[in-house]
Amino acid sequence: MIALNINQKLYEVDLKGHETLLEVLRHYLGLTGTKTACEEAECGACAVIIDGKAVLSCIILASNCEGKKITTIEGLADGDELHPIQKSFLDAGAVQCGFCIPGMIMSSKALLDKNSEPSREEMEYALDGNICRCGGYLKIFEAVRQAGKVLKVQGRSSKHEDAR
Ligand code: FES
Ligand code: FES
Repeated sequence: MIALNINQKLYEVDLKGHETLLEVLRHYLGLTGTKTACEEAECGACAVIIDGKAVLSCIILASNCEGKKITTIEGLADGDELHPIQKSFLDAGAVQCGFCIPGMIMSSKALLDKNSEPSREEMEYALDGNICRCGGYLKIFEAVRQAGKVLKVQGRSSKHEDAR
């Protein structure tokens, strides 16, 4: 039995073996916003934020996440109010099939929490591990740039906010 702090809520999970965090999120807790694709650290679909860093949940054992602060895509919106990064992805037309988007948004959030005005190079580096099969990278970078502007105006960075 382990306890996981996810989106500021404590979940007790009875592990059967060596489940990954991704398996626990999706199959035990029903947090299916985090996507499963390659399951071998190649695509970024499963990205979540752990203690401020974007992490691939398909290659981390859930048992190693006890005592850490985990944020998934479900932890970003405030009720019906989307997080500025989610809004920007929609406004910029960055969402096509949408499959890669939760992972893209989590990697973007980890970046923007630290730097609300990233250069194109910094964005490329931060999203390097996230693959979009629809190939919409230009609009994704535009969405990140726009979101950064909003977060800066709102004073929402890692210094000011935690999971939202
Ligand atoms: S499912 Fe984790 S990186 Fe692809
Ligand atoms: S929007 Fe379809 S994979 Fe990225």
